[in-house]
Amino acid sequence: MRMFDLIMKKRNGGQLTQEELHDIISGYVEGTIPDYQMSALLMAIYYKGMSKEETVALTMEMAESGDMLDLSAIHGVKVDKHSTGGIGDKTTLIVGPMVASLGIPVAKMSGRGLGYTGGTIDKLESFEGFSTAMSVTDFVDHVNSMKFALTGQTGNLAPADKKIYALRDVTATVDSIPLIASSIMSKKIASGADVIILDVKIGSGAFMKDLDSARKLAKTMVDIGKDAGRKMAAVISDMDQPLGLAVGNALEVMEAMDVLKGKGPKDVRELCIILGMYMVNRAKPEISLEEAKKLLTQSLDDGTALEKFREFLAEQGGNPDTIDDYSLLPNAKLVQELKSEKEGYLVHMEADEIGASAMILGAGREKKEDIINPAAGIVLNKKINDYVHVGDTLAYLHGDSREKLSAAAERMLGAYEFADAKREGHQLVYEIVE
Ligand code: URA
Repeated sequence: MRMFDLIMKKRNGGQLTQEELHDIISGYVEGTIPDYQMSALLMAIYYKGMSKEETVALTMEMAESGDMLDLSAIHGVKVDKHSTGGIGDKTTLIVGPMVASLGIPVAKMSGRGLGYTGGTIDKLESFEGFSTAMSVTDFVDHVNSMKFALTGQTGNLAPADKKIYALRDVTATVDSIPLIASSIMSKKIASGADVIILDVKIGSGAFMKDLDSARKLAKTMVDIGKDAGRKMAAVISDMDQPLGLAVGNALEVMEAMDVLKGKGPKDVRELCIILGMYMVNRAKPEISLEEAKKLLTQSLDDGTALEKFREFLAEQGGNPDTIDDYSLLPNAKLVQELKSEKEGYLVHMEADEIGASAMILGAGREKKEDIINPAAGIVLNKKINDYVHVGDTLAYLHGDSREKLSAAAERMLGAYEFADAKREGHQLVYEIVE
């Protein structure tokens, strides 16, 4: 069938077959289908949606458009986790070593972030010398010996997704559940882990703004993974405010190390334990969720997770002394307090705006070529349901120029909303989708 007919079929609410999706994906990757026709199809999908069968088929076609990593040489059931993205989300840095410290192999493939703050690789590159560049063979060896390794996505992992995502970004077709689900799951399935635990964010700093949509996205991804023979679970967690207090690469790394030392913000610790529980239980079903919780809590409190992080850091070229001396991380030249001009209970934070402020300070990149300032970012001093007086410090802004600090401060102030009473119903984890 011609691409014209396939666009029309979808536009009219029809279902694309596996064969048709195969032709579309291979044609687009090879360049025989032009951007303008693919854009029209994406918009038709945006409006008409996709059935479960179509979404699964689209995901597998995108996964198989490049390398399907063979991690079978890793001993044991290999686990991976993925977050749909959020401000201050440093969970991988904590949950990876926590789960690995229990002897479960964590094979993590991460990206660099476009957007408000860096991705996990950017965060880890705050450690001088840290490297994620390694061959698949080295990755497998590292996971076998250390139980935790983190590498960048290979150049040829789901190339169809790379090309389609770039097009979605400029055609207002990012926030479609079947397109997000197939994009994320194509990369996860091609990455080769047996267990995939998803952290689906909901709220002002997430793609999904309400529980119904988050549930639908989580269920779609869980079903795709199960269909591909993976063990799955999704945690729907809050992104109505940044996770923890730190937003920005080196600042987040410091906070992650605090949590690994049994300290740090309660919400980060709690979410890591919950994600870890599902990673452990899915890899070793003989360990119940309750038992996994006990073991993971112990690994944070007795220092075994921290020791695993120390080994991991050394193995990938970072200086483990940094764990005991944060001055070895990049520190900002200037730190400015953001003072409240209003009084009341803090009831809402526009998390996206906090992210945008961190980006103004230099923590993120707008274009691929932009260079991140690892020291830049924000440390919150107040979170939802805290009482704030006029003049109280809402946050500390870390940056390298007065201009950036004032621009970020102005933007940040617009992100807060206060009221006379606390906000009801706000929680860290809303639901588990299995
Ligand atoms: N992350 C992805 O990898 N793809 C999406 O579509 C959205 C978030």
